Amino acid sequence: MSTATIARLLIVDDEAALMTALCKTLELEQYATTGFTSAREALEHLRHHRYDVLLTDLMMPEMDGITFLRSAQAIDPNLSVIMMTGHGTIDTAVKSLQSGALDYVLKPFRLDNLLSVMTRALAMRRLQVENRELQQRIQERSRELEASNAELESFSYSVSHDLRAPLRAIDGFATLFMHEYGSQVPQDGLDLLANVVAGTARMQRLIDDLLHLARFSRQPLDMHTVSMKDLVQRVMATLQHQWPGRARHVEIGELPDCCGDQSLLEHVLTNVLSNAFKFTATRDPARIEIGAYAEGAEQVYFVRDNGVGFDMKYADKLFGAFQRLHAESDFPGTGIGLSIVRRIILRHGGRVSVESRLQEGTTLYFSLPR
Ligand SMILES: Nc1ncnc2c1ncn2[C@@H]1O[C@H](COP(=O)(O)OP(=O)(O)O)[C@@H](O)[C@H]1O
Ligand SMILES: [Mg+2]
Repeated sequence: MSTATIARLLIVDDEAALMTALCKTLELEQYATTGFTSAREALEHLRHHRYDVLLTDLMMPEMDGITFLRSAQAIDPNLSVIMMTGHGTIDTAVKSLQSGALDYVLKPFRLDNLLSVMTRALAMRRLQVENRELQQRIQERSRELEASNAELESFSYSVSHDLRAPLRAIDGFATLFMHEYGSQVPQDGLDLLANVVAGTARMQRLIDDLLHLARFSRQPLDMHTVSMKDLVQRVMATLQHQWPGRARHVEIGELPDCCGDQSLLEHVLTNVLSNAFKFTATRDPARIEIGAYAEGAEQVYFVRDNGVGFDMKYADKLFGAFQRLHAESDFPGTGIGLSIVRRIILRHGGRVSVESRLQEGTTLYFSLPR
């Protein structure tokens, strides 16, 4: 064993002979040992030295083993503790396990017994340390990711913002040109110009959507109890108004309240429900079902339609910005809705998913922590 991997043991027992014997025996087993007969002195020493395992007597005149254990772990939370206890005190041994000791050995013990307990304690300690390090690394990683996300967002925000002015200029000059010189331009030329104007209008919509996405990503969450039922009914009323006329069966199931940012959740519902309206445009009657169920610590809400559906092969893509599976001429849109939905739900600590069958219908799920 190299010096770097030698395990350091702190041994505390008020019986000096036992403590010295333990230190010597365990040294022979290639452990680095330090012994104390006083719990107070051991604690003082622990403040300035690092150990892997603390092997301590449960009954000591100066301080009982459990108080000692707690104080030691307050100094070094990674310290593994093994209690040594006499036969009569098994209850206290259980209590010491409950207080954070990893294991105990009954006195008088055999060396092989002690060694196997020791090996286990060391393995446990290594796992704990590794686990803490991993968690720390994950936290650092998430902080880095958050920072680079924020950077990307502000980049896309400022790019979108800066694109607006030149776009307005193209649109303005093209329109002006048509007005001023339209009579001198042949029809083919006018058609081309009309394409330019239509193109700028679409680009304007895309930019507005990008700005929305950026806004929904940054706007602080204003968390309250939200009545999902009221919210759905309100959004439904607006959409019925926007898409009048068609035969439509709408079924709204039990919708439990949730905790969230009401105005952001309204955008979620508006996007998801307007998709259900849009992609059932060719159905007679169109069916839309809104429901909810609990799943573990989450409340899942879903919107199901009997619309045109899509091939699940592309399902992952849909939550990315500007990803669409249907032609603009059949079903108009910019493809930003579901990425807004995803962004808002992720910010609430929830998840989104979708299930669909081509020509049969689609179900969009979003969950929120309960
Ligand atoms: N209910 C649905 N039925 C069928 N396809 C859907 C449905 N919801 C979303 N999609 C598919 O996902 C794409 C992205 O949706 P979305 O981001 O809301 O953009 P948009 O509505 O502007 O097309 C849609 O273009 C469509 O191809
Ligand atoms: Mg949409």
